[in-house]
Amino acid sequence: MKAVLDFCLIFLMLHTPGVLSLSTHVAIIYPQDPVLRMGSNLTASCWVHPDLGVHASSLFWTLNGQQLPSSLYRVLSPTNLSVTLAGLNASRQTSGDNLVCHNHKGHILAGSCLYVGMPPEKPVNLTCWSRNTKDLTCSWAPGGKGETNISTQYTLKYKLRWYGKEKECEDYTHTQPYSCSITRDLHLFTPYEIWVEASNQLGRATSDVITLDILDVGECEER
Ligand SMILES: *[C@@H]1O[C@H](CO)[C@@H](O)[C@H](O)[C@H]1NC(C)=O
Ligand SMILES: *[C@@H]1O[C@H](CO)[C@@H](O)[C@H](O)[C@H]1NC(C)=O
Ligand SMILES: *[C@@H]1O[C@H](CO)[C@@H](O)[C@H](O)[C@H]1NC(C)=O
Ligand SMILES: *[C@@H]1O[C@H](CO)[C@@H](O)[C@H](O)[C@H]1NC(C)=O
Ligand SMILES: *[C@@H]1O[C@H](CO)[C@@H](O)[C@H](O)[C@H]1NC(C)=O
Repeated sequence: MKAVLDFCLIFLMLHTPGVLSLSTHVAIIYPQDPVLRMGSNLTASCWVHPDLGVHASSLFWTLNGQQLPSSLYRVLSPTNLSVTLAGLNASRQTSGDNLVCHNHKGHILAGSCLYVGMPPEKPVNLTCWSRNTKDLTCSWAPGGKGETNISTQYTLKYKLRWYGKEKECEDYTHTQPYSCSITRDLHLFTPYEIWVEASNQLGRATSDVITLDILDVGECEER
C-alpha cells in the first residue's frame, strides 16, 4: 500500500513544470487526477507526441500496477488511445489509484491519479461538554459507514443563538479524531447553536444543529 502511495506522488512530481518537462510533453493522460463517484464510468485517453513515432495501438494501460485488458481500449487516432472503466471501485487509499499509460516495452509514458469515493453523509451523535465553563469540547461521528474513500474535512461551526455570528472551531489538535475544542470567548447565559459540516470534492453534508448552554454541559458544576 505504501508503494502505491509513493507511486502516485511520483507522478505529481513528474507533472510539476521544470522537474522533468520532457515527460510532460512525451505523453498526456486526460483527464488528469479526476475525482469520481464510486460506480461511475471513466473514459481516459493517453495522447502521445507524434515525434515519438509510437502508434497508439502499441500502448497499454495499468491500474494500480495491474494491466487492463485491451478489450477496454479504443484507438481514437494514431496518437490517442482511450480506456473505459465501468463501475469504478472506491480508491484503496486517499492518495488515489494510479492509472498509467505504457509503451509496448512497459516504460511509463504518463500517469493520472484517480480519486474514487462517495460524498460524505450527515455527521451524527454530536455531543459537547465543558470543563469549568472555560472551554467547550464537541465530538461527533461521521455518518454512514464513515468511509468516503477520498479526503473529507469536518468543520465544527457554532454561533450564539438569536444574534450570533457564525464561527468555526479551530482547535482540532486532540488525540481523538472527530472532535474540536472552543477555548476562547465563551459566553455564559446565552445558548449556542452548534453543528458539524462534512465536505469533500464530491459533496457536503451538515449534522443536526444542537442547542446548548455552557452551564448545562459543565462537568464540574454537575458534580
Ligand atoms: C456505465 O456504463 C455502463 C455500460 O458499460 C452503462 O450501462 C451504465 O449506465 C453507465 N453508468 C453511468 C453512471 O453512466
Ligand atoms: C484524445 O481523445 C480524447 C477523447 O476523444 C480527447 O478528449 C482528447 O482531446 C484527445 N487528445 C488529443 C491530444 O488529441
Ligand atoms: C472493481 O473490483 C472488482 C473486484 O475486485 C473487479 O473485478 C473490478 O474489475 C473492479 N472494477 C474496476 C473498474 O476496477
Ligand atoms: C474504502 O476505505 C476503507 C478505509 O480506508 C477501506 O477499508 C475500504 O476497503 C475502501 N474501499 C475500497 C473499495 O477499497
Ligand atoms: C450514535 O449513537 C447511537 C446511540 O447512542 C449509537 O447506537 C450509534 O452507534 C452511534 N453512531 C455512531 C456512528 O457512532
